[in-house]
Amino acid sequence: MAVIKWRDSYNTGVEQFDTEHHKIVDLIEVLFLAVRNRNDSEVEKAINELIGYTEKHFAAEELMMENAGFPELEQHKKEHVRLARQAKDFQEIQHGEMSYAQVREFYHFLREWLVDHIVGCDKKYGEFMADRPSE
Ligand SMILES: [Fe+2]
Repeated sequence: MAVIKWRDSYNTGVEQFDTEHHKIVDLIEVLFLAVRNRNDSEVEKAINELIGYTEKHFAAEELMMENAGFPELEQHKKEHVRLARQAKDFQEIQHGEMSYAQVREFYHFLREWLVDHIVGCDKKYGEFMADRPSE
């Protein structure tokens, strides 16, 4: 059973980022399974992979928004910084042996943040891109 059920309403309409959002959901799923299986090395690997992938994804989104002249770029970047900081905090706790309750909290945070961010923020650039006259 998937832990995050993807809904059509989550799609931004920007194909590359929709694909990447799906990949992030998959990585969260891997983390969830590792936590459920109580596999410490898998949990560590899954968190690192998720953070690494998300950082690249944010950078790609920011570049696209910048190139497109998206007016809410700065605000969007701040959201990315906030998530990255929170994720790093969890990663540091994890180095000092994160309890399973903490990893679960991290996973819930990611799930909510991802969905809220996509629906609340990423869809705005999707609308902006869709409204742009084609070049
Ligand atoms: Fe974003």
